[in-house]
Amino acid sequence: MDVNYIKEASAFIEKHIDNKPAIGLVLGSGLGVLAEEIQDPVMINYEDIPHFPTSTVAGHKGRLVIGTLQGKHVVAMQGRFHYYEGYTMQQVTFPIRVMKELGIHSLIVTNAAGGINKAFIPGDLMIITDHINNMGTNPLVGPNDDRLGPRFPDLSRAYDHQYIKIAKQCAETIGLNIKEGVYVANQGPIYETPIEVNMLRTLGGDAVGMSTVPEVIVANHASLRVLGISCISNMAAGILDQPLTHDEVIETTERVKEDFLKFVKETIKQLPNK
Ligand code: HPA
Repeated sequence: MDVNYIKEASAFIEKHIDNKPAIGLVLGSGLGVLAEEIQDPVMINYEDIPHFPTSTVAGHKGRLVIGTLQGKHVVAMQGRFHYYEGYTMQQVTFPIRVMKELGIHSLIVTNAAGGINKAFIPGDLMIITDHINNMGTNPLVGPNDDRLGPRFPDLSRAYDHQYIKIAKQCAETIGLNIKEGVYVANQGPIYETPIEVNMLRTLGGDAVGMSTVPEVIVANHASLRVLGISCISNMAAGILDQPLTHDEVIETTERVKEDFLKFVKETIKQLPNK
């Protein structure tokens, strides 16, 4: 990871904004609506930012939205980069490095995920308490730049415990039946086989997706405090007697967007300023 690239991308963005963002948001499939709530937004397309990769998936817009949300300065990624698209792990996580350079202290990562836990139903929101990296690689493989973080980062609290607590309280405040659990990241782009889903449940997984873990690893490397939220967009393969489609994923995120917006906004309001 070339520190100069990070600095150039960050310097370019800084020219367009007046305030340093404090919180970064990664908005997953169908969850980009949150960016529309940002006040006095400055929008910058990924393709205009030096060294940024560009997004290819339907339902992903591919831009940064920078402004205020609940009185907090935020920078939101409307659309993320996925490993399955063919990007390297360094490209997938480059925006996290740039947001850190811009000044964020915390990162909220969101995704659509398949429910592994049979007590979940599509439309549930799940606070991520921990993850299993089943992607076969991670973004820190290769030489370490000590200016970015330590060679051997600790992931024993990858998801900030205080933030989990705050998020749970916020769910209660707004009367939302929130779930919590372990997110498993697979490479994708294929969905799992039913027996793989059983395996992941045996391993302790509650939800499965194709993103988030690379970003969370880099966020931890960069000493950011992380909150992760999954929208259970479908039950993982084999649980219900029906095929999985990306359309179902998008339909569910569309259906729960009011709850999602209310919950994330309340949580952002309650997060500490440092
Ligand atoms: N599996 C993997 N990724 C997903 C799923 C799923 O069932 N749903 C949304 N993203």
